[in-house]
Amino acid sequence: MAKYRIAWMPGDGIGQDVMEAARIVLEALRLDAEYPPADIGWEFWRREGDPLPQRTIDLLKTCRCAMFGAITSKPKEEAAAELAPELRDRGFIYRSPIVRLRQLFDLYVNLRPCKAYPGNPLNYREGIDLVVFRENTEDLYSGVEFHPLPADVRSALEARSPAMAAFRSSPSEDIALSCRILTRRGCQRIVRAAFEFARKHGRRSVTLVEKPNVVRETSGLITREARKIAAEYPDIPLWEANVDAMAMWLIKNPLDYGVLVTTNMFGDIISDLAAQLVGGLGFASSGNIGDDFAVFEPTHGSAPKYAGQHKVNPIATFLAAKLMLEWLGETEKAVALENAVAAVIAGGKTRTYDMGGSSSTLDVAKAVAERL
Ligand code: NAI
Ligand code: MG
Repeated sequence: MAKYRIAWMPGDGIGQDVMEAARIVLEALRLDAEYPPADIGWEFWRREGDPLPQRTIDLLKTCRCAMFGAITSKPKEEAAAELAPELRDRGFIYRSPIVRLRQLFDLYVNLRPCKAYPGNPLNYREGIDLVVFRENTEDLYSGVEFHPLPADVRSALEARSPAMAAFRSSPSEDIALSCRILTRRGCQRIVRAAFEFARKHGRRSVTLVEKPNVVRETSGLITREARKIAAEYPDIPLWEANVDAMAMWLIKNPLDYGVLVTTNMFGDIISDLAAQLVGGLGFASSGNIGDDFAVFEPTHGSAPKYAGQHKVNPIATFLAAKLMLEWLGETEKAVALENAVAAVIAGGKTRTYDMGGSSSTLDVAKAVAERL
């Protein structure tokens, strides 16, 4: 039996291409692993009414962790229209399988490193090396939403919050409500994960990115918890920045920051910005990490227009595999993979279209594999 069982979920579109490339690289590393394939994505929605079938969840429970490519998802009405005819009007509702995975397996850390590898022509500036810790299960993405606003929710809000007076003249059909829910535990564990990472990797500071001056209760809660946790790490200063200012500072002085920690939606936005500083979607990897399970993925989507063409950049997926190796404790292999990726980037010969080259996805995989 192999040492690791790693669920393999290519998903849709270019997810298939980049995961094929990742396998070449993992085979070259001689990782002692088996990779049971798992069904996820649009095809399973269309054929079965579920983009994350129960058999996939059952299989994941037998694995150490998972690698995931990308999925296609579409708005509610479009999704319903693409269901197989016999499944229509039977109450199937499309929900993002990756968001569900994060919640089902309590993968509360979304780890997103953004590093400018020397020689990448897409670097905004040389020397950038940021890591974003985004809370992955709460906040505006927790799914507690209403439209129209139910009468009992409305009267409770009106009784409790004077600020509701501003909406008095709007009928309930014209009000949509998405709840930003943070818990003390959720705040504590994401901040702690960021500090632990900073300590382990010798980072100079941790920056909390929030907006407590305006979103007083939720951003206020995480700010207070962060200050308490920071006191346990006297060698690592906690900096606090408002999310809007942070968008500006990251463009102006990206080298000033090391570890950023924030809530789900702010983290979604800030990490896309940070990814663009180091080459964009072809370089952005992420780990969805819980206490005993994790899913690693490139952050890009399924890019349908490039599907099956082996044209896109697989480096984001290689860097996701590197995060997986680190998480598994395979430090030497993780370092070897990162060095090989860095050497291919610096070499400048094998580049996909986004880097100005004409190499294929699999050319890049072979170039990296040759250096392992
Ligand atoms: P996308 O990330 O799929 O692609 C946007 C554009 O970025 C592409 O057209 C391409 O020009 C470029 N790009 C993406 N990955 C690249 C790579 N590895 N190398 C080079 N260039 C790359 O985002 P889009 O077009 O907004 O969404 C397409 C589908 O993917 C949608 O159905 C969307 O819902 C889904 N999606 C899925 C995600 C996931 O699986 N985690 C994340 C984002 C979008
Ligand atoms: Mg995103």
